Amino acid sequence: MEKKKVLITGASKGLGLAISKKLSSTYELILHASKEESFTSVEPGSHLLCADFSDPEQLANFCKQLKKQHGETLYAVINNAGVTYDKPLNFQPEREIDAMLNVNLRAPIMICKTAMKIFGLYGRGVIINISSVVGESGNAFQSVYAATKAGLTALTRSLAQEAAALNESDHNIRVLSVSPGFVETDMTAGIPDAIKEKYLHMIPAKRFGKVDDIADAIEFLISDKASYINGTNIHINGGLL
Ligand SMILES: NC(=O)c1ccc[n+]([C@@H]2O[C@H](COP(=O)([O-])OP(=O)(O)OC[C@H]3O[C@@H](n4cnc5c(N)ncnc54)[C@H](OP(=O)(O)O)[C@@H]3O)[C@@H](O)[C@H]2O)c1
Repeated sequence: MEKKKVLITGASKGLGLAISKKLSSTYELILHASKEESFTSVEPGSHLLCADFSDPEQLANFCKQLKKQHGETLYAVINNAGVTYDKPLNFQPEREIDAMLNVNLRAPIMICKTAMKIFGLYGRGVIINISSVVGESGNAFQSVYAATKAGLTALTRSLAQEAAALNESDHNIRVLSVSPGFVETDMTAGIPDAIKEKYLHMIPAKRFGKVDDIADAIEFLISDKASYINGTNIHINGGLL
């Protein structure tokens, strides 16, 4: 039987890489990173589709290619690519603000738009937007990053309602977001030990998240076993809030 196609953005490392490893035996993967050289390993049989999402032109071309090359067989999208530049807002250069807005929010919006067009034709499909605990809690020195992540959860809830409004009563289009807490990846590697220690005391599970904590949940959430989970945000953070 033909495998269903799943797009994972930001799949070169961290959460995206772990998700791609988890899904590779069940799904045919379309893997994205900012450039092909970012990949050190690729699951056999996967398709690569790269673009720097901070560049609106590359993003537009990415969406066009996604529809052209995989439009008929796309089953799910995991909007995972993300970037953060942590500093006080009054010292944040505009180019960093633009990069966070473009990569973390504009790209998922445009990819959701492309996916919704495709899913609308077949009345089925799943979108998972990777948000963050800070989208709800806020976090000093991550004002813009947190704003982009809050944007993703609002986008998710709205799109789930829109899918119902635009499609037949028995449509099977789901839109979800997942908000990881503190997960050990390159993105968090630069956080000073003293701050990490402070976070650790705030996590009831008494450990930081592992990439597989998130990938296991994604595997479940895109499957039919999660067919009644829709339009909501799933926190995966060991109890931190
Ligand atoms: N780690 C955490 O604690 C944590 C917590 C909450 C939420 N999250 C979210 O989870 C997602 C994955 O985070 P991670 O920790 O796995 O990050 P990571 O290890 O830094 O990986 C980031 C991924 O995003 C891609 N990316 C970065 N800038 C890009 C750009 N300009 N254009 C296109 N792709 C770009 C990277 O591709 P290249 O390799 O080509 O740069 C890479 O594949 C992000 O959305 C992040 O905000 C992470």
